[in-house]
Amino acid sequence: MGNTKLSLLNIAILWVHLFAAVLFVGGSFFMWLVVMPASRVFAKGESERTQIIGKIAKEFGKITSPILAILVLTGIYNATWYLPSFGDLFSFKSYGATVLFVKVVLVVILIILIYAHGAYYGRKIVRLAREKDFEGLRAVRRKSRILSFANLALMIAILILAVVLQMSP
Ligand code: HEM
Repeated sequence: MGNTKLSLLNIAILWVHLFAAVLFVGGSFFMWLVVMPASRVFAKGESERTQIIGKIAKEFGKITSPILAILVLTGIYNATWYLPSFGDLFSFKSYGATVLFVKVVLVVILIILIYAHGAYYGRKIVRLAREKDFEGLRAVRRKSRILSFANLALMIAILILAVVLQMSP
């Protein structure tokens, strides 16, 4: 962190990174805290509720891919001024490099889980809801919910690491 330069480009790109993180994490928590409870109020029955949530999740899914790409690309750029050299990411040479490495590992796990979740459970849940197979739906949804909470927990952990990056000596 010693070579941090107060350049306009670095500031602009860090802002883009921060704003993308706000949209991504904010949107994910909005799904859980607002969309899910609201769907219980306005949907008529379990089948309709699941299909509505599926449509909203699909719409949110359309913006998550570009947002994740922006986060990774701007994150890599940030690392170029944050670390003395980019190769230090894998060196465990300093506190900052080690924390950033852990952050990148968590980001990779998060990205894999998000796509695995959407591709496998997302589609399955909507199909079961359409077929009105409520027994199957309950079982799949329980597993899907565990994965969703794991994703939200990973986001919190990544944000904690982003704060710790700021505090690094
Ligand atoms: C490969 C992926 C990523 C890399 C290499 C990366 C790298 C970085 C670096 C080097 C910083 C600057 C640290 C500092 O200012 O002290 C930063 C800031 C930040 N990152 Fe990431 N990041 C990545 C992905 C993410 C993701 C997925 C999120 C959110 C879920 C995120 C959230 C943040 C936030 C909120 C900050 C601002 C911290 C601050 O400067 O106060 N990053 N990132």
